[in-house]
This record gives sequence, C-alpha cells and structure tokens, in this order.
Amino acid sequence: MSGWVVEPLVTTGDLEEVLALEEAAFTNPWTRDMFEWELTGSDVSAVYVVRQARSAPIVGYCCVWLLFDELHINHVAVDPRLRGRGIGRALMLELLTDAGRRGAHRATLEVRASNAPARRLYESLGFVQTGVRRAYYTHPVEDALIFWCDIAPGTSPASRRPFGASEERE
Ligand SMILES: CC(C)(COP(=O)(O)OP(=O)(O)OC[C@H]1O[C@@H](n2cnc3c(N)ncnc32)[C@H](O)[C@@H]1OP(=O)(O)O)[C@@H](O)C(=O)NCCC(=O)NCCS
Repeated sequence: MSGWVVEPLVTTGDLEEVLALEEAAFTNPWTRDMFEWELTGSDVSAVYVVRQARSAPIVGYCCVWLLFDELHINHVAVDPRLRGRGIGRALMLELLTDAGRRGAHRATLEVRASNAPARRLYESLGFVQTGVRRAYYTHPVEDALIFWCDIAPGTSPASRRPFGASEERE
C-alpha cells in the first residue's frame, strides 16, 4: 500500500485547492468552470484527488473520462513541493485500478514531448507511445505524444456506477 488516500471528488467544495495546484503546474491552466464541468457536467468524467490522509490538503489530482471501455486521462498534476515522492504513481495506479473495476480495458493520454518526468511515470506504468499530434499544445507550441496502455480486466460492466458517483465505504 502506498499510504496515499486517492478518491474521486464528489462536490465542488474542494476545487479551490485543486485550482491552486493547477495554477502552479501549467502555463495555460484550466479554469474553475472547466473543473466544474468535469465534476458535474457529465456522467463520464471524474476528478480524482490524492491526500496524505482523509481530510488532509489535496496534494495532487487527475481528470479522466471513462468512454465505454477506454479511460482517457486528461490532466494530472502533483503539488510542486511534493513531487518525486511517489504521489503521481499512487494516484495513477489507483485510478487505473478503479477504471478496471468499472470495465475499462485500456487507457490513453497525451503528454508534451519535453515532459520527461511525466513520460517516465507513464512508461513505468506500462504506457506505450503510439503516435504524435504535431503542434498540439500552445504556450509554448509543442507536439503531443499519444500513449496507450492495457488495463487488466475488472468487474463485469453490469456493476459499473456512473463515473463520478461516490462509493459506499466499508
Ligand atoms: C508528472 C507528475 C504528475 C509526476 O508526479 P510525482 O508525484 O512527482 O511522480 P512520482 O514521485 O510518483 O514518480 C513516479 C515516476 O515518475 C518519474 N519521474 C518523476 N519525477 C521525475 C523527474 N523529475 N525526472 C524524471 N523522472 C521522473 C520516475 O519514473 C518516477 O519513478 P521512480 O521514482 O521510481 O524513478 C509531476 O511531475 C507533475 O505534477 N508535473 C507537472 C504537471 C504535468 O506535467 N502533468 C502531466 C501532464 S501530461
């Protein structure tokens, strides 16, 4: 066990913490409206957050879509002060496992070509580069590398919940 607590956000109440991390991580950060849409605007989207303990501050997050049997990982970041301690790996492992339980068979993401830390993280999790989108990113303009990985089969599709829905905890 990693010791980090990873769970889906279910309300917009904690978004200020996520937005602060977003501002610190990206040159063209997502807005509050964009995060609100991820949380409330669709049944296929979810925002996972990671904390050191329940109710502790959020130290990382990831926005995903579950489209049929594909998990699309759209955004991931960790508090710059806490990088290199296994938080990103713990977050990704948990959300890939959860997606498998919900019926996902594969996962995909895009990453800036120059983003060595993220590329190494994804490759260490089994992601393989399958293509390039030329000049996909702005601020600065840069190619996106497309990655995919297989997810071990999870529970039957019939047991899927709407993606952002909270779980009963034991
Ligand atoms: C990418 C990111 C989420 C990784 O989070 P993290 O908590 O620092 O990652 P971890 O500590 O779990 O490291 C996991 C693996 O990533 C790789 N990695 C992490 N930091 C690295 C660095 N500075 N240089 C090279 N590889 C690195 C390593 O393979 C590492 O495994 P190892 O420790 O066994 O060598 C974080 O760097 C981040 O928030 N970056 C800014 C936002 C961003 O670029 N997001 C990705 C957009 S696609």
